[in-house]
Amino acid sequence: MDTRGRFITLEGIEGAGKSTQIAPLAELLRARGLEVLTTREPGGSPLAERLRALLLDPDNQGMSETTELLLMFAARSDHLERRIRPALEAGHWVLCDRFTDATYAYQGGGRGIDPAQIRLLETLVQDELRPDLTLVFDLPPELGLGRAKSRAGQADRFESETQRFFATARAVYLERARGNPKHYRVIDATAPLEAVTLAVAAELNAFVDSLEFRS
Ligand SMILES: Nc1ncnc2c1ncn2[C@@H]1O[C@H](COP(=O)(O)OP(=O)(O)OP(=O)(O)O)[C@@H](O)[C@H]1O
Ligand SMILES: [Mg+2]
Repeated sequence: MDTRGRFITLEGIEGAGKSTQIAPLAELLRARGLEVLTTREPGGSPLAERLRALLLDPDNQGMSETTELLLMFAARSDHLERRIRPALEAGHWVLCDRFTDATYAYQGGGRGIDPAQIRLLETLVQDELRPDLTLVFDLPPELGLGRAKSRAGQADRFESETQRFFATARAVYLERARGNPKHYRVIDATAPLEAVTLAVAAELNAFVDSLEFRS
């Protein structure tokens, strides 16, 4: 296998299980001898985490769609420069809890921003960088929101969105996955936790195997 690090993103609506599954996935990769950085968006660097707090704060309910989109990409820009690109350049694998697919799903689908505008910012901020593999944790919004509500704490600015918002976001994730089956794996996130862990582990092992086989 070549020594380039790979960039893997975890996507899906609220309560899909992304943050629960990222640690076992990192362990799987480490057990295969790889160096792994786990991180998340929005956030992942000190400045981006401050932008995350602004984005999620329910007090910022009046934020416009354009402001939200620009803050998302501002956070992403800092995160990429300070953490993701340096890690990949050092040959580390990066597992990221949400990335630009979430922008297409939430700001594009949910808020109704033209995806062409998101693509402009994607190119500006990321240049050629795209995830090597994206795991989409798929489940109906009512199930995901039910799980998210069972977590401690106040609902954030996105969690308080409607089921319709998340149904649209889910549809965008599935459409993007269907359009590029080589880069996406859709995981049935309605299954019990352990079954989901096994399913994603199988996908990730197959992905690493495919790279070793190629070299
Ligand atoms: N397969 C599962 N079955 C039942 N409960 C689950 C499953 N996966 C995760 N959970 C629980 O559901 C809740 C939400 O999971 P988690 O925080 O991982 O979701 P998430 O995708 O990171 O959501 P968000 O986008 O809101 O951050 C947690 O309390 C978690 O323990
Ligand atoms: Mg999470």
